[in-house]
Amino acid sequence: AHSARILVASNRGPVSYSVSPDGTLTSRRGGGGLVSGLSAIGPDAGALWVCAALSDADREAVAQGVTEPGSRMIAVPPEVFHAAYNDIANSVLWFVHHMLYQTPLEPVFDEEFRGQWAGYETYNAAFADAIAEEAAEGAAVLVQDYHLALVPALLRERRPDLRIGHFSHTPWAPPDYFRLLPDDVAARLLTGILGADRAGFLTRRWADAFAACCVSVLGATVSDDGSEVTYQGRTTRLGVHGLGADGDFLRERAHREDVDERIGLLRSEAGPGRRLIVRVDRAELSKNIVRGLLAYRQLLQDHPGWRERVVHVAFAYPSRQDLALYRAYTEEVTRVAGEINEEFGTRDWQPVMLKVDDDFARSLAAYRLADVALVNPIRDGMNLVAKEVPVASDGGVALVLSREAGAYEELAEDAITVNPYDIRQTAAALNTALTMPEAERADRTKRLADAATALPPSRWFLDQLTALGG
Ligand code: G6P
Repeated sequence: AHSARILVASNRGPVSYSVSPDGTLTSRRGGGGLVSGLSAIGPDAGALWVCAALSDADREAVAQGVTEPGSRMIAVPPEVFHAAYNDIANSVLWFVHHMLYQTPLEPVFDEEFRGQWAGYETYNAAFADAIAEEAAEGAAVLVQDYHLALVPALLRERRPDLRIGHFSHTPWAPPDYFRLLPDDVAARLLTGILGADRAGFLTRRWADAFAACCVSVLGATVSDDGSEVTYQGRTTRLGVHGLGADGDFLRERAHREDVDERIGLLRSEAGPGRRLIVRVDRAELSKNIVRGLLAYRQLLQDHPGWRERVVHVAFAYPSRQDLALYRAYTEEVTRVAGEINEEFGTRDWQPVMLKVDDDFARSLAAYRLADVALVNPIRDGMNLVAKEVPVASDGGVALVLSREAGAYEELAEDAITVNPYDIRQTAAALNTALTMPEAERADRTKRLADAATALPPSRWFLDQLTALGG
């Protein structure tokens, strides 16, 4: 205890456990930006990753005292985890920040909500307790995301000596929308994050929205340049760190044998010579997959010349399947894809190739082959797919990009940008993308790849540590 000099806290950690048929626990390491970010500081930096037990197997590992070096898993009772993760974080908070509540999908703040909110508080307190126990004097703590918005303030109460950062990987809702939350909940989320010395965001737009919420809900003051929020005598600095793609990793990983194999499979399934419009997402409402499919249908209607000559490759990987709304969305995606295949499909052409099982190597194969990438979220903190596709592309790719994705701020110039709600405009953008001259496409792809890799995860991570003075 009290020995970690750098702590990272996030809901999802670097390892997960499963129980084999013979009852033994096996661990699996995951990937992602945080994992590669942390690798930048090396094994001797005294880093500890504090994360939640996400499953019965994870909780069993904690109960048996199974640990992985460099990480600590927190097991709260399953019903507390469910309330914090599914009900509050991935329903209420996810829906607020992505502005997904729209009639008839309305927020409900009844007694049940209050019970869930209590679970969110308990879960956040469990993180604060664990970090307070593990952190060395003056250690730097990097708290991640909307699951853990209360941790900075709770931690400061316990350990005023720590340097605390919080980072939001989602958008932040503007005040007029954020204020649909009950007043006490809205205030608590904001003061929770203001407990940090620094609050980080993926774009200026989200940082400004956070500052505006602090003014509107709390009556806090913001410095003229928007870089500091002061409330009750304490000042929190706001930082913008636009996480980029990990170019070196992607280029290497995308040329391994398993990806090459899948290139062959994709090619033969799509039909030789056909253009590919590719999208890769978690199946989840903010990603706007259904409107993407409808835009593709509009394209086939408006430009019949593309029939038989193009395939929409849509990978929609299951996400947060404990929640009925997410499951229903996946079903809708499947239904609409099926309808388009019914309507336009011929004996040897299937217009939509939809896959709902997770396969990273297959995603990379699709990145390499894509003629067009469709990234049309309703709202998105950043969207790394938009950044990864140009990096992995074999022959150049035209990017159709929502202006509501954080990545828009960095990639707009060389993308074809759309209003994600406007299906006709998106269809027209797909046509523009498909007809883009090859040389132009290559030039744009190169510039997109450069912009996309400007801040790789390792530097993103180190920048935040440095900013905390660590
Ligand atoms: C978003 C969040 C992350 C989260 C990821 C996957 O990008 O910002 O914190 O880990 O989605 O979602 P999951 O619920 O599967 O962890």
